[in-house]
Amino acid sequence: MFRLLAALTLAAMAAVTALAANADAAELNIYSARHYDTDLRLYDRFTEETGIKVNLIEGDSDELIARIEREGRNSPADLLITVDAGRLWRAEEKGLFQPATSDVLEERIPAHLRHPDGLWYGISKRARIIIYNKAAGVPEKLETYADLADPVHKGEICMRSSSNLYNVSLLAAIIEHEGAEKAEAWTKGVVANFKREPQGNDTANVNAVAAGECRISLVNTYYVGRMLASEDAAVRDAAEKVAIVFPDQQGHGTHVNLSGAGVMKHAPNRSNAVKFIEFLTGDWAQLTLSQTNHEYTAVPGVTDETPVRGTGAFKEDEMNASALGRNQAEAVRIFDRAGWK
Ligand SMILES: [Fe+2]
Repeated sequence: MFRLLAALTLAAMAAVTALAANADAAELNIYSARHYDTDLRLYDRFTEETGIKVNLIEGDSDELIARIEREGRNSPADLLITVDAGRLWRAEEKGLFQPATSDVLEERIPAHLRHPDGLWYGISKRARIIIYNKAAGVPEKLETYADLADPVHKGEICMRSSSNLYNVSLLAAIIEHEGAEKAEAWTKGVVANFKREPQGNDTANVNAVAAGECRISLVNTYYVGRMLASEDAAVRDAAEKVAIVFPDQQGHGTHVNLSGAGVMKHAPNRSNAVKFIEFLTGDWAQLTLSQTNHEYTAVPGVTDETPVRGTGAFKEDEMNASALGRNQAEAVRIFDRAGWK
């Protein structure tokens, strides 16, 4: 496994690859926005099993997307791995993916976690959950996302900024289920319940709820899972101070989002890219991918263990994740109009 940082080197490799008429070279060029050292074990194992060498480019999602776009037809990128269906959508919008289907992928990845045309596949998932301060007691009426907009919670809610995709994707899901008008009414209701202007990342919002600065917030499961598993007792203590609600258990189910991978339109090693996504759906790879970041496996039934201690199975929203991208622009406009900064 080699991390190649020089674009020129990869471009040269792509040229060489192109000479190998039609057949893939024994290599795979992955552009990844995941920066976990444990992911490197996945690449190594794949190489051991297949003899296919992995060349890795790591970067911020938007940077990688811009780079692949700039490289155009000569891009050596075979596979893009990124986080949030909203980002996969941005790559899709720019026409960077090509459809790739296989029996293994269709069997292993549930339909709602993959693009309907095979442009990308979810490889791990996370849920966006409500948390509240345990010491302040169980809040009345807090079982659904809709409840967050109820005036009973006035002055109790802290949120992350709407410039972050996590909230954009959640609102996109609400738009898909309820329509834009109801989604806007919901957004305004939540804004009216803010304790303070949106700020901080999900970890900061867990800490704010733990400290009693706010009673209620909305975060991704892996932030709580990560804090509960921390080696730092103070971090664990903070996480213990918040309780978790999986919203909408009687309705559509809790909103989930994913890390995903898709084959690039000009992939010089297309079949290796498909082989690699298939490899990621294996039990060992699923566990490695998900446990690294306290996420849930995308493939069902791989493990009974929950990545968030103290929680069990929950009903997830099975809306196709491609809707999250489709409604993204509308969600951003609604956040703007509602004053959710
Ligand atoms: Fe995150």
